[in-house]
Amino acid sequence: MNGQISPHIAIFVLEIDRLILRHNRVHQALARDQQIRPAAARMPSPSAASAPATRHLRLWWRRRGRGGAVAATFAVALLAAALLLSLSHYASLPLAPAASVPRSSALVGLTLLRRAEEKGALCLDGSAPGYHLQRGSGSGSQSWLIHLEGGGWCRNLKSCASRQKSILGSSRYMESQVEFAGMLSDLQDENPDFYNWNKVKIRYCDGASFSGNVKDEFQNGTKFFFRGQRIWEAVMDELLLKGLRHAKQAFLTGCSAGGLATFIHCDDFRALMPKDSRVKCLSDGGFFLDVEDISKQRTLRAFYSDVVRLQDLKRRFLRCSSSMDPGQCFFPREVVKDIRTPVFVLNPAYDAWQVQHVLAPVVSDPQRSWQDCRLDISKCSPSQLEILQGFRKELHDAITELKQKKDWGIFVDSCFIHCQSLNSFTWHSPSSPRVNNKTIAEAVGDWFFDRREVKELDCKFPCNPTCHNLVFAKPFKG
Ligand SMILES: *[C@@H]1O[C@H](CO)[C@@H](O)[C@H](O)[C@H]1NC(C)=O
Ligand SMILES: *[C@@H]1O[C@H](CO)[C@@H](O)[C@H](O)[C@H]1NC(C)=O
Repeated sequence: MNGQISPHIAIFVLEIDRLILRHNRVHQALARDQQIRPAAARMPSPSAASAPATRHLRLWWRRRGRGGAVAATFAVALLAAALLLSLSHYASLPLAPAASVPRSSALVGLTLLRRAEEKGALCLDGSAPGYHLQRGSGSGSQSWLIHLEGGGWCRNLKSCASRQKSILGSSRYMESQVEFAGMLSDLQDENPDFYNWNKVKIRYCDGASFSGNVKDEFQNGTKFFFRGQRIWEAVMDELLLKGLRHAKQAFLTGCSAGGLATFIHCDDFRALMPKDSRVKCLSDGGFFLDVEDISKQRTLRAFYSDVVRLQDLKRRFLRCSSSMDPGQCFFPREVVKDIRTPVFVLNPAYDAWQVQHVLAPVVSDPQRSWQDCRLDISKCSPSQLEILQGFRKELHDAITELKQKKDWGIFVDSCFIHCQSLNSFTWHSPSSPRVNNKTIAEAVGDWFFDRREVKELDCKFPCNPTCHNLVFAKPFKG
């Protein structure tokens, strides 16, 4: 090994193109001044979601209040985990006791959908879509957790064309195995309620949150397939045959663009399951807001309008009236109005992706006055913080009605992060973010199994010392 860390350990770091993990003050010699460069993690800009190698990000976690120590512990744990996985030096590693380091990594192989072409269920480039299935055991053998992968959207043929040459548009580029961590983990410590369930990660390769269904489109001699809806249906059909049809409990989840897809498909999912089964959904970092950005533009709405037109999604969203901007139909605030199945909304109040792309996008900040704040919430000026608090309020306003629903769950922490269910550090560990002293895993488990009503609403930044706030070294392109 040459110090490069294998890509699967990067799972916890959200969906970030190329990033470097760093830590501040790490006392163990093991970790001093080392950098981890996971190759395959990515956090897409809405358009150029698929990993331009030029986008080098530096990022680390910072804990407010306790300074660098916690971040350092966390980084050490991470380095240890990385080394553990890549070097197998189990015995000689000084593992940080404060963080949970995976005892083993569950790598789960990619299965390509059978007869994809016949079913017309194809990735953007015409390749077969895929998923990763890990079988459950014991008391979990008739329970299923499905996760829809995220990764932004493509708004026009040009951006979809570049996506066709990446894991977000073609199974030709997808990893043959991925790590299952956080709520996908099969370790009881890390994932107390779902560890022994059947788990599936469905790969995202259609560019529109699993919702398009149009004929092939030719442009400049290239063929594009906008078939997300068919991918959803065909993968569900295949999973039903593999045991999902006998599910006693089923949980549809997704992160980011996959979190939006979870809202879109939650009731379809319910309808596929046996009548007497317990079925719920969870959207992680998927509550995208239709707000004015710092220059009074509705950047994301304009973006969504392009996606909706490109993939002809308007037909799909019946609620979408002709007086509405097509992009409006695609926002969770609209989509959730029709959902009858219980859903858990897991979202940071200062979603890092949304701050960078929805609230303070680079295009709306020619003076670059948001550059530091956009990368590191602790560097925001008082006036910028006020705008961030306004953004938090927009989220709270958008979910007002959802808070009234007894059977819906809410966990809105005041962290600067994006997607918190797929790594043990944010999902469930001794150093996880907590609201009302509950980790995300505890809150979600309590809600799923009706142990209590769950509405965890955090106080305003910087009140929560348990947050893992991301710090980026460079802005995302786009
Ligand atoms: C098609 O090709 C032309 C000329 O090469 C180029 O300018 C245009 O951007 C291409 N269109 C798309 C959608 O790729
Ligand atoms: C918070 O929860 C932990 C267990 O998860 C418990 O040990 C601790 O006492 C709780 N703290 C408070 C203040 O309730």
